[in-house]
This record gives sequence, structure tokens and C-alpha cells, in this order.
Amino acid sequence: MRPASIATALALAPWALCAEQQPLSNPAHRPSHAPAYRHELLGLHKSLVSIESVSGNENEVGNFLVGRLAERGYTVDLQFVAPMDGTPAGRERFNVLAWHGRRRPNPKVVVTSHMDVVPPHIRYGIEHGELSKDTVIRGRGSVDAKGSVATMVIALDQLLAAHKVNGDDVMLLFVVGEEVAGDGMRTFSDSLDGMNPPRRFEAVIFGEPTENKLACGHKGGLFCEVTARGVPGHSGYPWLGKSANELMVRAMARIVDADLGSTALFGNTTVNIGRFEGGVAANVIPEHASVKLAVRVAIGPEAEGARVVQRKIQAILDEIDGEAFTFHCTHGYGSVETNCDVPGFETVVVNYGTDIPNLKGDHTRYLYGPGTILVAHGARENLTVGDLETAVEGYQKLILHALKQ
Ligand SMILES: *[C@@H]1O[C@H](CO)[C@@H](O)[C@H](O)[C@H]1NC(C)=O
Ligand SMILES: *[C@@H]1O[C@H](CO)[C@@H](O)[C@H](O)[C@H]1NC(C)=O
Repeated sequence: MRPASIATALALAPWALCAEQQPLSNPAHRPSHAPAYRHELLGLHKSLVSIESVSGNENEVGNFLVGRLAERGYTVDLQFVAPMDGTPAGRERFNVLAWHGRRRPNPKVVVTSHMDVVPPHIRYGIEHGELSKDTVIRGRGSVDAKGSVATMVIALDQLLAAHKVNGDDVMLLFVVGEEVAGDGMRTFSDSLDGMNPPRRFEAVIFGEPTENKLACGHKGGLFCEVTARGVPGHSGYPWLGKSANELMVRAMARIVDADLGSTALFGNTTVNIGRFEGGVAANVIPEHASVKLAVRVAIGPEAEGARVVQRKIQAILDEIDGEAFTFHCTHGYGSVETNCDVPGFETVVVNYGTDIPNLKGDHTRYLYGPGTILVAHGARENLTVGDLETAVEGYQKLILHALKQ
């Protein structure tokens, strides 16, 4: 849809933010381009977006999915994950695993996305008027990543109903905690360790907003804190002390200008100084300063790329002052390559992180999903009915392609 027409439609038609059900489609009058699953898809997407599931509070959306999948004949397994900040007392967190058929699955392909969203909750809304591919749907998670969750479920429902896949060849995996620590996917990954016989998937399809393009990869990440320790004193006599803020400013200027590595596929490594603190008053030489950094790593390999960048930053800090800085990174990984060699897809490279590096193992990885990251996490998060329907078709193509490999 052209952006101009979205804007016009919105100006003329305020959001339906009410809870009442829209007349989603009247089958008798369904336009020829509306797929038969539209009503079900939009209903599922609406239910998912309407349930608040900020990271830590995924219990209700998990229970909803368990019910929805069990009702359609899926075998559903819950995999419990430790509570985190934001988990209400007595509420459990769990990943949802689902497949058709035998009790113990041995799937060739895993189709996965996450159930948690970033705060704050934003209510579901669908544009008034006749439903079409251009109808806009908004709300927290409408894109990231409940657009993926809903379209993955419908895609697999359709393939199963058409007998295009065997029940236990494909497993759905919806995880908690992707937006914070990836603890849901890590728990799943750890659960595969020591399985006998060892569990290996042919392919894993990850759902995140890629504008329905097949991603060739995403940047790595490195998440760090830098602190500087100075010597306090009177601001009129700077030579009597040592300013932690001044050291930090010099260090950060060097770091943001430094070449921290680049590649043709991923571009430059970039640094975001997300938080900057230091000092106590205008007339006191600051003793402490601290900074939090998110670095988007453009170089690989996946296991090592972040450490290479970390060493370059450490060298800059050492050069500025050999003693004043402490530099601590909580986690990091190099650039992540995914398979984008599937006929029929436009391709893209993205700058955000995903759960992909949190799932260990030797499998082909795909990254694909509806909606754009440029509005995810913001107040304007939205996508269109057509985006969702294209994703259903896209996931079906990817699942069938992955099963053929
Ligand atoms: C990447 O960094 C180089 C300098 O290191 C700069 O010349 C170039 O414009 C940067 N590219 C982008 C896309 O920002
Ligand atoms: C909806 O998303 C598009 C990007 O796909 C964005 O350009 C537009 O501003 C958003 N609209 C609203 C009302 O948030």
C-alpha cells in the first residue's frame, strides 16, 4: 500500500478501538482476492494482540495459544521458563510447542516466533470501513511478533488441511522473553542438549518483521557498560583532580568515530550510547561516570565477531587512560547469516537482533515475517491485512521449501 493512501485513510477514518467485533468478512460477498482463511487469520491476530504480554507476563497469551492449538488437533507441550522481573506472582511462564501426530515429535522443520512484546501495551485497533488488503491493523505486537505468530499458525493449519505436510514433520515453537534476554529460546535450546538420540532439525524458520522479505542475515550485538573513575576536587583547580566525565567524553568520541569493522553485507558496526551519566554538581570535578552501549556488530563469525569489536573498544579505552576505565559486556555475538536462497522472495538485511543465535545447532535458518521493524516498538506499530495474508503464503512456501531440502 502506498504510504499516502494510509495517511488519507487514517485521516478520514479514526481507529476502531472498541472491543466490538468488526464484520470481518461476509463469505457470500467475499471479494475474489480475499483468501478463505481471512476471517480466521484476523480473528486469531486480534486475540493475540488484545492480550497484553509484555516480557515476563506471557502466561495469558501462552494459555490462549495452547487452547487454540489443542482445539485444532495439535499436540501441545508446555516448556516452563524461570520467572523474571515483571512476572506476576503465581503466574508461570512457558514456551508453547505444538505439532500434529505422534506423542513424541521428531520434526524436520521448526517454525518459531515469540509471544512477548515490549511495553507499553497498546490496544488493538482495525481501520473502519470495508475490509480489504489495505485495511490497517494496529496495536502492540501487531507487527512484532504477533503478526508472525498468527500467520505461522494459519500457514501450518492450511498445509495440514491440504495434506501437503506430514503432521509431525513441522513443529511450532512460540517462546517467551525474546525482547529481553532470549531466555525462552535459550531454555528450548538447552532442552535439546543431551537428548538421546541427539535432536537435529533440518531447518528453523524464525518469525520477525522483515516486510515479507527473506532476510539474508542480521547484525550481531554487543551490550556493555563502561565506567570511569576520576579524582574529585574543586572545579576551579582542574589539575588537582581528574574528571571522570572528561575521560568518558573523550573515550566515547573516539569510539563512535572508530572503524569497528564493516562488511559488504552488513555495512558498518555502529555504536549507540544509550545512557550517559556522571558527576554530582557543576563545580565539582566528577569522580564517577558511566555509559551503557548497544553496539550493532557488522562482522562475523557469529561466535567471535562481538569479541573482536570488544577488544577494539578496550584498546581505545586503554589508550585514553590505562587505569580509569572498567569495561564490562554482558553478552554479544557476531553477525548472523540466514539462508535467503529461496526462489520467489525479495531479500533484505536487517540491523536488529533476534533469537536466532540463542538456538544452538546445525540447521538451515530462515528469517521472515510481516510488517516493518521501522514501526515495531513504537506507538505507530501497524500492518495491513494484505501484509498478514502475504505472510501466510510466504510461510507456506518456506515450510515446503525447507522440507524438500
Ligand atoms: C561507514 O563508515 C565509513 C567510515 O569508517 C564511512 O565513510 C561510511 O560513510 C560509513 N557508511 C555508512 C553507510 O554509514
Ligand atoms: C503504519 O505503518 C507505516 C509503516 O508501515 C507507517 O509509515 C505509518 O506511519 C503507520 N501509521 C500509523 C497511523 O501509525
